[in-house]
Amino acid sequence: MIETKASSDVAGIVAPSRSERAIDSAKHHLLQNYKQQPVVLVKGEGAWVWDADGRKYLDLIQGIATCALGHCHPAVVAAARAQLETLWHVSNVFYTEPQLQLAERVTRAFGGKDSRAFFCNSGAEANEALIKLARRFQHEIAGQKERSEIITFEGSFHGRTLATVTATAQPKYQAGFEPLPKGFVYAPMGDLDAVKRLVGPQTAAILIEPIQGEGGVRPAPAGFLAALRELCDEHGLLLLIDEVQTGIGRTGLPFAYQHHGIQPDAISLAKSLGNGLPIGAMVCSDAVGKALPSGTHGSTFGGNPVAAAAALATWDLATAPEMMKANARKGELLLGLANELKARRPGRVVEARGRGLLFGIEVDTGAADVVARCRQHGLLVNLAGEKTVRFAPAFVTTEAELTEGLTMFERSL
Ligand SMILES: Cc1ncc(COP(=O)(O)O)c(C=O)c1O
Repeated sequence: MIETKASSDVAGIVAPSRSERAIDSAKHHLLQNYKQQPVVLVKGEGAWVWDADGRKYLDLIQGIATCALGHCHPAVVAAARAQLETLWHVSNVFYTEPQLQLAERVTRAFGGKDSRAFFCNSGAEANEALIKLARRFQHEIAGQKERSEIITFEGSFHGRTLATVTATAQPKYQAGFEPLPKGFVYAPMGDLDAVKRLVGPQTAAILIEPIQGEGGVRPAPAGFLAALRELCDEHGLLLLIDEVQTGIGRTGLPFAYQHHGIQPDAISLAKSLGNGLPIGAMVCSDAVGKALPSGTHGSTFGGNPVAAAAALATWDLATAPEMMKANARKGELLLGLANELKARRPGRVVEARGRGLLFGIEVDTGAADVVARCRQHGLLVNLAGEKTVRFAPAFVTTEAELTEGLTMFERSL
C-alpha cells in the first residue's frame, strides 16, 4: 500500500512521506534542469489540485496557462477517451478527422477560408514553423533570397530549441549554447524607432508576443502592433505573432492580437490548445502558407488524433463568446483586487498587469519567496521574470475562487 502521510515506526523515526520519497527520487533520476516547486501533484479537478500527501491547492497557474478549462474537464476527458478507444495515431501520412475539424476551427478564427493550419506538439515547434515559414516565404515566394533575419523583442520568450532560444531575446536562456543560429536581432519592446533602425534588405519578419508572458506579463504598448503591421507592409516583411501563452480565448478574444485591430501573416499556438495534452499549431494566410509545400516541413506526432480531439472539445468551450466575455470580466476583477492591494501595500506591490486571465503582480522584492509562501497558504502560482508573480487561472475558476486566491496572495506578501 502507498503511504500518503509521514508516519512513525516503532523506534520513533519519521518515515518519509509519499511526496518526500518522490522528490528524493527526482533528485536522483531527473535531469536537474527545472527549478521545480517541491510539490508532487497527483490529482486535479477544475481549479483545484491535490498533492501526494492529500493537501489541496487552488491552482491559479494551471500548467502555465495550459489547462484552459481546468483539470480533467469532463468534455475534454470524454473527447480524448472516445478518441483513445477509436484511433490513437497514424502519423501525417494519412488524414484524420479530429485534426481536420480543429483546422477548420482555428483557421476560421484566424481569417476565414483563405488560411491554413499546421499542427505540431509544442510552442517551440510552432515557433520553429513560423521561422521556417518566414524564411522560405521570402526566399521562394517573394524571391528575396537575402531576406532571412527576424526581429524579436527584449524580454521575449519563444521556446528552447536552438532557433527559438535565439529568437528569445534574453541572454540567460542562451548562455552556454553558442554558437547560436544566425539571423535574429533584437529591439527593446515598444520602441518603434529601434525596430525601424534594424529593418534592412536582410529582414524577413518581425516576431512578437502580444503580452510577454515569461518576460513578466508585459502587454505590448497600445498602437505598437498596428505600427509593426504598417512597417511590415511598407517593407515586404511578415508579421508573426506568438500566441502560445495568450491564445484560445484567455484574454477575451480567440487570439490576443485581435484586441489590436490587425491581421498578422501567421501565428503560433500551443499551451491552452489541448487543455494540457501536447499540441501546437502554426496558422497562416494561404498566400504565405504556399511557402511550405509538400515535403518542406512536418512532424510525426503533430495533430495526433487524441490531442486533436481534446483540442477540439477545448476550443468549442474556451472560445464560446460567453466564456471569453467572462474571462475579460474576471481579468477586470483581478486587476481591481490587485490595485486595491497595491493601495493597501504601497511600495510592496509595484504594478498589476495583464489582460483577461493572464495576469501578473510585480512586487518590490522577494517574488520567489512570495510564490513559496502562496504555496504554504494553499495557492499555486509561479514566477514570470524576476519580480512578477504570474496568475493564469483556468476559465472555469469562479470569481469567488479568484478573490480567495488574491486573499492568499496578500497573506503571502
Ligand atoms: C510565448 C511563448 N512562446 C513559446 C513558448 C514555448 O512553448 P513550449 O514550452 O511548449 O515549447 C512559451 C512557453 O512558455 C511561451 O510562453
